Amino acid sequence: MRVIIERDGEAVSRRAAYFIARLIRRKPACVLGLATGSSPVGTYQELIRLHREDGLDFSRVTTFNLDEYVGLSPAHPQSYRAFMQEQLFKHVNLPPNQTHVPDGRALDFETASREYELRIRESGGIDLQLLGIGTDGHIAFNEPGSSLGSRTRLKSLTSETIRDNARFFSNPDQVPRLAITMGVGTILEARRCLLVAIGANKAQAIRETIEGPVTSQITASALQLHRDVIVVVDEEAASQLARRSYYEEVERSQQLLESGNYSALGIGGFAHDS
Ligand code: GLP
Repeated sequence: MRVIIERDGEAVSRRAAYFIARLIRRKPACVLGLATGSSPVGTYQELIRLHREDGLDFSRVTTFNLDEYVGLSPAHPQSYRAFMQEQLFKHVNLPPNQTHVPDGRALDFETASREYELRIRESGGIDLQLLGIGTDGHIAFNEPGSSLGSRTRLKSLTSETIRDNARFFSNPDQVPRLAITMGVGTILEARRCLLVAIGANKAQAIRETIEGPVTSQITASALQLHRDVIVVVDEEAASQLARRSYYEEVERSQQLLESGNYSALGIGGFAHDS
């Protein structure tokens, strides 16, 4: 797991957008897994800026969102489909038929979930999955206790999540109690996972995700089992990490490697080479 600690939320967003933009440039027909919530908003703003100012081209990109509230139509302002439309889709050249969000109106959720998984597979699988994290350590809507092998399915939200998300609704009683969400197993199949967390209210969940045991009680901790995970956090979200200085050391080495500064790393020119 690569842990990157940035000064503030803005720097987190720029860094996360950098990884996504680099993928789109290297693989224009890539498949992105997208997330909602306040955490990725800055990342989307930076991607929009790169599209406008730098010509970042979304025309061949396909997207799959993690989850959707049950009972909200795509037109409902608090639906995740509407969120994506407002925060990203309408600002970039992403063809609407290449964007996918689970359907919160489906009556047969089992079939709808199976079909969502099938569509991901048919698209070639997710190259990069962007993730936020709930205060209880959930990813997508995989609440504590979700099987770490779970697939897309219907899920009941915890009272903590309902309370956290009530801020987006004018009346807290309107927060849906159910969601359709990719499973932890679905997420772990993405080729790369990119988790962003901003703010002190995420510090405990981030510590448990990175330094705690792998447990279904903190579903984000399952990312420890994935071979390519990048976690980008701000100072506040990093504030409970015990091994912070080590992560910073690893990051310094990574930067030197990427910039080709091998001598600073002591690579090459060994004293005893003949
Ligand atoms: C919801 C979403 C998650 C998101 C979480 C945190 O539960 N389903 O994908 O990570 O909220 O949201 P925020 O970034 O607003 O704290």
